[in-house]
Amino acid sequence: MPPVIRISDIAQYVGQEVTLQGWVYNRTDKGKLVFLLVRDGYGFAQCVAFKGDLPVELFDQVMRLPQESSVIITGSVRADQRAPGIPGGYEVGVKDLQVVQAAAEDYPMALKEHGVDFALDHRHLWIRMPSQWAILRVRTVVIRAIREWLDSHGFTHMDTPILTPAACEGTTTLFETPYFDEGMAYLAQSGQLYNEANIFAFGKVYCFGPTFRAEKSKTRRHLTEFWMVEPEAAFCDLDQLMEIEEQFVTHIVQTALRECQAELKSLGRDTSLLEQVAPPFPRISYDEALKMLEDIRAETEDPEQKELLAIEWGMDFGSPHETALTQRFSKPVFVYGYPTQVKAFYMEPWPGRPEVCKSVDLLAPEGYGEIIGGSERISSYELLLQRLHEHDLPVEAFQWYLDLRKYGSVPHSGFGLGVERTVSWITGIQHIRETIAYPRTIKRVYP
Ligand code: 4AD
Ligand code: MG
Repeated sequence: MPPVIRISDIAQYVGQEVTLQGWVYNRTDKGKLVFLLVRDGYGFAQCVAFKGDLPVELFDQVMRLPQESSVIITGSVRADQRAPGIPGGYEVGVKDLQVVQAAAEDYPMALKEHGVDFALDHRHLWIRMPSQWAILRVRTVVIRAIREWLDSHGFTHMDTPILTPAACEGTTTLFETPYFDEGMAYLAQSGQLYNEANIFAFGKVYCFGPTFRAEKSKTRRHLTEFWMVEPEAAFCDLDQLMEIEEQFVTHIVQTALRECQAELKSLGRDTSLLEQVAPPFPRISYDEALKMLEDIRAETEDPEQKELLAIEWGMDFGSPHETALTQRFSKPVFVYGYPTQVKAFYMEPWPGRPEVCKSVDLLAPEGYGEIIGGSERISSYELLLQRLHEHDLPVEAFQWYLDLRKYGSVPHSGFGLGVERTVSWITGIQHIRETIAYPRTIKRVYP
């Protein structure tokens, strides 16, 4: 019996007979030959059926096989540079073929251009297509690389709750749900506050899970449900945090480049800049970034772009600012020291400059923008209490969080990396909705 192989391993089987279990993605005929592009979950490979090799009835059936029919194919592998596939360059000469199910003829995602809304309505089928498949394969490698690095650098994985009593990242993007006799509960915007409790027991920790934001923004960078990994470390200041971040991001990018060559090639991703990702990353202050933006704006002739790039000190960067800024860099760039007024309540003030906080965002190059938000946290009890009042947050809900500043407070820092934004940068995809299997946006909870 020939072995059932994965298409991703096909190169190891040249000259041997193998079995593929998969689905027909495309079919073309040329006289006595039928070319099937078969996918098996691990790749796409061309299988060629020759009339003389198969019983007449079976060959007839193969000639009429609808897209998405499930099949078990046995044949011999040969190397052929012209053969399409992921990885391309290998072909299976069909010796036997079993149709598990001949798919219905009305497959909605037939091989033609589809509008985005149509494709998203059929996301359960769209994920079968090579581009979507490749992006989601990169995603799984990115997630593994994230865990690998943290697990091997002393970070204890701690799960943090999804149903929470209070806001972490501002009250405007909270999803709320009635919670028995306890009033309202909110879906977690971040596990950070719990991470901060956990470091006092475990030193360095991370949480990794779905995160919810009722974002009104309809940009290509925002989802209402996304995955965020949040490391947090005790005895760690802003500089040390940036060192952790650049090593961590480098490991993720280099792992994806090494393990997802076929996927990235199939997406047409130019990986030359990604290959340069290595510490140190450039570090610029908010003030310097603002100056760069003013220069970029001055050079712009397009009035619409000029309007979009308008900014003054104290304002947060929007997507157009981040895009313009990161087009100037070939590596990810740290922007630190944002105005206190645009950042969350828990950030440590800059020494001697309270209008600035010890925050740092990591912006991905090539116009991708923020993939990480992080900061040093307030370690003083009095200051934290004052900030809760200033931000009009319910102090009772934060009593436990205040406790952390009473019993052994230390300088500590952490950050959150968005999986979808990171994957869209690595894969070169414009809109993050393609980097998660079932995207949730303001306009979409189906399928
Ligand atoms: O900058 P953010 O809001 O930071 C926090 O939530 C901190 N509590 C993290 C921490 O310090 N532990 O979000 C962090 C990252 C962003 O840089 C971005 O990559 C991603 O989460 N993100 C989103 N991704 C998709 N859709 C959204 N609506 C996102 N909001 C944030
Ligand atoms: Mg942020």
